[in-house]
Amino acid sequence: MNKERKLIIAGNWKMNKTVAEALDLAAGLKLELANVKEVDIVVCPPYTALSEVSKAILDSNIRLGAQNMSEHNVGAYTGEIAAVMLKEFSVRYVILGHSERRQYQQESDALIARKALAVHGAALKPIVCIGETLAEREAGQTEQVLATQVRGSLAGLDKEQMVETVVAYEPVWAIGTGKTASPAQAQEAHAFIRRVLAGMFDETVARKVRIQYGGSVKPANARELMSLPDVDGALVGGAALEARSFTDIIKNSI
Ligand code: 13P
Repeated sequence: MNKERKLIIAGNWKMNKTVAEALDLAAGLKLELANVKEVDIVVCPPYTALSEVSKAILDSNIRLGAQNMSEHNVGAYTGEIAAVMLKEFSVRYVILGHSERRQYQQESDALIARKALAVHGAALKPIVCIGETLAEREAGQTEQVLATQVRGSLAGLDKEQMVETVVAYEPVWAIGTGKTASPAQAQEAHAFIRRVLAGMFDETVARKVRIQYGGSVKPANARELMSLPDVDGALVGGAALEARSFTDIIKNSI
């Protein structure tokens, strides 16, 4: 597939996989994906498996991501994880502001923006998630919600940092529901997000930023979604938990 931007396909393992299970999956992916060069491949295990998975994918084409990070560098923040701790395991990417964290941990755009700055401060790359709920889409508020999230969650980044940031468009109604956005809905939302980025930064920056689609991505719909002009990858949940389906998503996208 000939794309303007290199595809980035990431697996968000969420709160799944013990260390033994994570190692099993990592070994399968390493074997199956060894020859893939056309796509940036990222896996985001839970914190407890980062150390072992990091060792397992050493010398492979698979990069490591975390699912969250503290905005602070060190100190009395019980239960939090700092950038320097992630760097010990060669983490390269950090998912920020996933809709599950926005919903269950009340993460705000302002907090996500501070975390994004902390991620860049540590020379890591954030994957910043945005997306509307079903109620917002049905009320015709999708563009307004996306614009607010883009402007709020990426506030304060400079142009160089923005180019090194990945945006993940994950319509909340498509996450874990089996309901994928139609190609037209996905393309429309991605193109809109890029226009907002052009307004915030400039056209050159907007053209370089990779925007992933997330929400019930499967081997069967990956090719069509990845072929859309403004879709530059995928953030995969359920289908990233098995080597076969995650591999097929990547191979079907090439
Ligand atoms: P599903 O692929 O399970 O719908 O999850 C998407 C997601 O939330 C990835 O971050």
